[in-house]
Parts: sequence; C-alpha cells; structure tokens
Amino acid sequence: MNAAVPETTPQLIAPETWLIPNLAPAGDGVFLPVNSMVIRGKEPVIVDTGAPVHRELWLEKAFSVVEPEDVRWIFLSHDDPDHTGGLLDALQMCPNATLVTNFFSVERLGLEMGPLPLDRMRWVEAGERFDAGDRTLQLFRPPIFDGPTTRGLFDPTTATMWIVDTFASLTPGAVHHVQDIPRELIDEGLAAFGSLVSPWHEWLDPTAYRRHVDSVEAMGVLAAASAHGPIMTGDALHAAFDVVRDLAGKPIIPAPGQPLLDELVAQILAPASV
Ligand SMILES: [Fe+2]
Ligand SMILES: [Fe+2]
Repeated sequence: MNAAVPETTPQLIAPETWLIPNLAPAGDGVFLPVNSMVIRGKEPVIVDTGAPVHRELWLEKAFSVVEPEDVRWIFLSHDDPDHTGGLLDALQMCPNATLVTNFFSVERLGLEMGPLPLDRMRWVEAGERFDAGDRTLQLFRPPIFDGPTTRGLFDPTTATMWIVDTFASLTPGAVHHVQDIPRELIDEGLAAFGSLVSPWHEWLDPTAYRRHVDSVEAMGVLAAASAHGPIMTGDALHAAFDVVRDLAGKPIIPAPGQPLLDELVAQILAPASV
C-alpha cells in the first residue's frame, strides 16, 4: 500500500470549471481519486476542500487556479473528512468567502472542528439554489451518498455537475477522464463503490429510486465530476447513471473481508521472515 502516488494537476472540466485532483494508493497499480472542484466565475466557488492527508497538496492546487481573496463561496457537499480537509484553511485564507452548508453539517462538524463561524455561512438544502453572480447553482440529492447531509451542485451555465460520492471508481494513475481509463475498471468500480457507499440500495423500490435518478440526469448534465471518480461525459456518463439505477433492489456487493487483510499482513511480514 506504499505505492508512489503520481503527481496530479488541476484539470479543466468546462469553461472556468476546474477539477482539483489528488490520489490515494488503493492496491497494485491503482489509486482512489480524492477530488474537489473550483468554479472560477464572477464570484468564484470552491466546491469541497479535499482530504486531511492531502491538505498541503489541496491548498497548493486549489489556490493555483483562484486567488484566495477572490473566492466568494465555499460550497461544502457534506461533512465527511475527505471533503473537509482544507475547510478551516480555506475559511481563514478566503476572508470574502461565505460557507454554503446546512444545519446538520454544522452540528456534526462542531464535534470535530469546534464551532464554525455562523455569521459567515448560508444554509442551503437539496432543491434550493444560490446565486454566484454570473450563475445560479442548483443543489440536489445525489443518487449515491454516504452522509445524510449530502447535496450535489449543478451549474446550468456549463451543464457541469458535482455529484459528490456518486460515480466512484479506481484509476490507474494521473488520468481524470472516463475515456482514458480501462472500461472494466470503471464498470467494476461504479457498482462496487456504489454498493459500498450506499448499502441501503438493496432495500430500494426500483421504481421510486429510478424516478429520483432520472430527475438528477434530467437536470441537463453534460459533464459530471465527483470526489472519487473520473470526469464523466458522453455515453459513459449515461452508462454510469444506468449502473446506479440498476443497484436498486439488488443484493449488496460484499466488501473485501478477512482474506484480503491476511494477504496484506502477509505482504508486510514477508521481507522480515526471509
Ligand atoms: Fe462522503
Ligand atoms: Fe467522499
């Protein structure tokens, strides 16, 4: 698990819309993306703030595409640590930014970070929107999520969607577009991570759930960026929605168990026993 992590750089998703990528080792030659996003419009928006393990890298990359004092909004999709790693830094470095979050995220983050500045935030829920100058950003409930506070973000001016923990998939390295990643890795990853992240899918009524997934896809998305997967566009984007739809009512895909742990421990101990 100590594989060297390839260097990554911000990737343009759409006009003035950047993916801020980082990678975490996830086994032989594969990595888990840990992304966030920056929309550099009239009122620049930081979309999630990376993981604590990438704090320095996240700060460097995020503020290579936007000046801290220009940032007007910090949108927090939910309070999971891998989305809040640079939050306190961003609040401190971006004095003109308002934090877009919600009641329950603030309650939960209070236990981890202490009180956040209530006078610098706005609480916005799924189904609501906020105005960022030259665009009105729409919040929605992503089809797959692992935290109750989760809201995705849709920018109708570029048809780009931040779909948070939906569409997770491993990558072979510093490649960020779905078309540059082996199809098998994507297909396997979307189903396996979807099931890991939202194991409640096995109890879902497929008709009701598909109605929700359809409503997200029908927002008019042309590119979906996410925290843990490649940028999805074209046919691959619609195929990814299909994978998610198909999870409804299906048995969970089991996570690796004790045999994998045994294998990993054996690898660690192997050199010492020679
Ligand atoms: Fe999460
Ligand atoms: Fe996440």
